[in-house]
Amino acid sequence: MKTFYVTTPIYYVNSFPHLGHLYSTLVADTLARYKRQCGYETFFLTGTDEHGQNIERIARERGVTPQAHCDEMAEAFRRMIRDFGLEPSYFIRTSDEYHHRGAQALWRRVREAGYIYKGQYEGWFCPACAEFKEEEEPGRPPMCELHGRPAERVAEESYFFRLSAFQDRLLAFYREHPECVRPAARYNEVVSFVQSGLRDLSISRVSVRWGVPVPEDPQHTMYVWFDALSNYITALGWGNEGAHLRAAGVSEGPVFDRYWPADVHIVGKDILRFHAVYWPAFLMAAGLPLPRTVYAHGMWLSGGRKMSKTLGNVIDLDVLRRFFARDAVRYFCLREMVFGEDADFTYGALIERINADLADGLGNLASRTLTMVQRFCDGRLPEASARAWGGYEEELRAAAEATIRTFVAEFEAYNFSRALEVTWGLIARVDKYLSDMKPWDLARRPQERARLETVLALAVRVLRVLAVLLAPVLPETMRALWRQLGFSGEPAGVNPQELQVEAPISGVRIGEVRPLFPRMDKEKTMAEIEKQRQSEGSVSSSAWITIEDFARVDLRAGTVVFAEKVTGADRLLRLLVDIGEAEPRQVVAGIAPYYRPEELVGRKVILVANLQPRTVRGIESRGMVLAAVVGPEERPVLAGFTEDVPSGSRLR
Ligand code: MSP
Repeated sequence: MKTFYVTTPIYYVNSFPHLGHLYSTLVADTLARYKRQCGYETFFLTGTDEHGQNIERIARERGVTPQAHCDEMAEAFRRMIRDFGLEPSYFIRTSDEYHHRGAQALWRRVREAGYIYKGQYEGWFCPACAEFKEEEEPGRPPMCELHGRPAERVAEESYFFRLSAFQDRLLAFYREHPECVRPAARYNEVVSFVQSGLRDLSISRVSVRWGVPVPEDPQHTMYVWFDALSNYITALGWGNEGAHLRAAGVSEGPVFDRYWPADVHIVGKDILRFHAVYWPAFLMAAGLPLPRTVYAHGMWLSGGRKMSKTLGNVIDLDVLRRFFARDAVRYFCLREMVFGEDADFTYGALIERINADLADGLGNLASRTLTMVQRFCDGRLPEASARAWGGYEEELRAAAEATIRTFVAEFEAYNFSRALEVTWGLIARVDKYLSDMKPWDLARRPQERARLETVLALAVRVLRVLAVLLAPVLPETMRALWRQLGFSGEPAGVNPQELQVEAPISGVRIGEVRPLFPRMDKEKTMAEIEKQRQSEGSVSSSAWITIEDFARVDLRAGTVVFAEKVTGADRLLRLLVDIGEAEPRQVVAGIAPYYRPEELVGRKVILVANLQPRTVRGIESRGMVLAAVVGPEERPVLAGFTEDVPSGSRLR
């Protein structure tokens, strides 16, 4: 039997899941469903990445053991999977014992092949990313762009992986396998990164305890990426007996030979280098086959910026759970993001797509067709008749056949958004066909019976095609549509590669007709979401930062001593704020529509004093005044004090 192995990245347990995490998993889930439908025996792996200094530190801050912290977080990710109806074959946790044994077995293989040696590592390390950072200016800690904090200097004994030995082999591999990194732009990036030269990689730490001990030298803990990447094979039972698979009822023992090499590792582009450079090099060193494709998707942005707990702009799964049907979230994510590129997530756009594409598009087509079958054909699927079959029908049938082929081709190429766009093109055509043919008028003329039945039979056949094609994207609603059409079994049981418009379905009694996707009231829903976001619930689900993280922000009480409008910029004011320094700070603030300069002078404000200076409209801004952001129009309301406070006082 043909097999297919798809993985998601395993999730860091440093923060609660958000839309970005959900996305990788639902893409993999959709692919897995599609491949199963095409007859592949499919293994879909996801899980949690639990080790490293950062996790050790978070657990300490929370006053719990690392294991207890990881247990709690792994449960949050499992809940995401349950709540969104995702169906992985297995959920791996890197703190599981079988995984430790597998990772150690990989280490031994690489060491025995001569690619691991002991040395001294000195470098800049961001504990939040568990990643060493390149030094940009000699002696100066590089800033971690992602976490907005300086990297830390680390000097210690370390094992090294001889990555430099793999430069030519990797380049040859990329050349021979142009599909190994996708999309093409990412492939080119990876190739030029490797061409620019590879340095050996430090792959152990002595200062970190929470991790997989290095075999035969347990003072050392494996670098978290060596341990994490190996999950893709340890989960299949490589380097262990696969007893975990038996315990989970997945298989009797290891399934490594059946599924490895992976058909596709779905990853975000931020972690491409680990998957497309380090991971193949580790595997080459161990003499194991390399994954067929690493597909790097883009980032979901929120308000135009990368979603991150540090920026506080994450799309909260609680909000999605509470306000939206899960199929609608799946559809939106796959339709809105061109796979491989970045996209902006807004609740407004989600609601608009639900209303336009799902409620008015697919949902309406299904309910108007089935209601007419109910009324005009006594609830039985009609038969098309040769007498009434003309050029229009033939054209539509051909369009449906072409849609099937394009959908399959686009799905195989990971162009989910395009596959859906094409499918909605077909929906629009059938809608127009019904409007043109007016079956409700035909029903009033008995001599038009054959035509009426032909029109409805064709519409029903297209609905059947849609249910099959869209089953991996909208699993629950397409199952419901299948039942409304009166069919037995599942739409997922029909192979889209063998799907045809013609099907022997006449005479089938349809089920109860119900709306598939209710329309949403955009304004009301947006107002309710805003209310929930203001409430404590969503704050508690964003991630923790440590007290040290917070202490890095230098907050000061200040007094505005001067304010004026910035010429040529409607939103900006230039402020001078006294924070007890020799000179007041010059700050540019986007509050001009809401505050007059004269009402600000003398006012106490809170200033972020150690923000990197930046130049706005030619004016250097050295800090930021804090404001609450209120309402959908995001009106700023300046933060202040109700008691008198000397300028320059620190806030903590
Ligand atoms: N633990 C590593 C992966 C190890 S795999 C051997 C990791 N974890 S993560 O939790 O930080 O990220 C998991 C996945 O979520 C990554 O693919 C990442 O790109 C994705 N996303 C996190 N934020 C995202 C968005 N805002 N948008 C889309 N996906 C993003 O990295």
